[in-house]
Amino acid sequence: MIVLGIETSCDETAAAIVERQADGSGRVLADIVLSQVADHAAFGGVVPEIAARAHVEALDGVIAAALRAAKLDISDIDAVAATAGPGLIGGVIVGLTTAKAIALAAGKPLIAVNHLEGHALTARLTDGIDFPFLLLLVSGGHSQFLGVEGVSDYRRLGTTIDDALGEAFDKAAKLLGLGYPGGPEIERQAAKGDPSRFSLPRPLLGRAGADFSFSGLKTALRLAAEAIAPLSETDVADLAAAFQRAVTDVVVDRARNAMKAFAAAYSEIAAPALVVAGGVAANQALRSTLTAAAAAQGFRLVAPPIKLCGDNGVVIAWAGAERLALGLADGLDAPARPRWPLDERAPAALGAGAKGMKA
Ligand code: KG4
Ligand code: ZN
Repeated sequence: MIVLGIETSCDETAAAIVERQADGSGRVLADIVLSQVADHAAFGGVVPEIAARAHVEALDGVIAAALRAAKLDISDIDAVAATAGPGLIGGVIVGLTTAKAIALAAGKPLIAVNHLEGHALTARLTDGIDFPFLLLLVSGGHSQFLGVEGVSDYRRLGTTIDDALGEAFDKAAKLLGLGYPGGPEIERQAAKGDPSRFSLPRPLLGRAGADFSFSGLKTALRLAAEAIAPLSETDVADLAAAFQRAVTDVVVDRARNAMKAFAAAYSEIAAPALVVAGGVAANQALRSTLTAAAAAQGFRLVAPPIKLCGDNGVVIAWAGAERLALGLADGLDAPARPRWPLDERAPAALGAGAKGMKA
């Protein structure tokens, strides 16, 4: 089956076409992403109204470009999927309404996709991994460990009690005078810096469970920066390196507990997968430290290619295809949802044995 996917929940206007075979394998037929980063750069973050207007202007052309790239006509598509949330509501409405119009005009099913499920299921397209798997979802708005037991079937093992990890990167970058989005800027600076010059806290490190907290780290970074202002280039690089090192230490510590809980619930799985997804999954330092931490627990780390970590239409088209394969289409009255947790329908316990969180 062939699915068109539309993504407009933040600052990328994106459309893609993927094909999913009955055996669960898939391939990308088109992948068009138009970034609005330049439109928002002057404001140091995404401005919702500017984003919504830019989606209105660009989306028809982006969808047409995806169809052209795949050499397909809309009649060749089996379903139209769009992000229905969570995200900036203006943009979500643009994408979802466009998808509804296409579905209605072409007589195709509509699939209202949870953006987070798009990130969650990407590793099944790129690496063919089976359920269940452990997911670390780290984006601009979310930082969670989830046991993924199937499509629409998520058990939360841990979440952030304050800022999301991507948000922490963005705020850290802002206070160091770096541009937006902050994650790639911090990563670039950190590569040049000395992570040991400043000692920053590691919130929740060593504690039970798999929750995160990043706001204290952000404050500590601000105080360290203020104490030596004005910052030289070396200061910025060293502070970025210290911040990135503190973050990776915390994520690895939390991941260890999440892996222990997952392994206890699924002791029958010989080589379980830890999948890292979402925009922050593009961070190379995080990927390499997590690879080692996963291996030490008998897990293999699966990270999508960098291109598919950020927001794009492929992850939405693929989640749509996975849902369509299960007969999960939506009505044209599907609502746009600014908030939409992945685990809203699932009970808290993880695994068939319902052993729950042990670590
Ligand atoms: O998934 P995503 O593209 O959008 C959301 O759904 O939120 O994630 C965007 C977030 C931003 O906070 C950005 O700074 C962060 O991902 N990010 C990174 C890197 N690339 C993007 N964070 C750390 N290192 C990176 N290389
Ligand atoms: Zn995202």
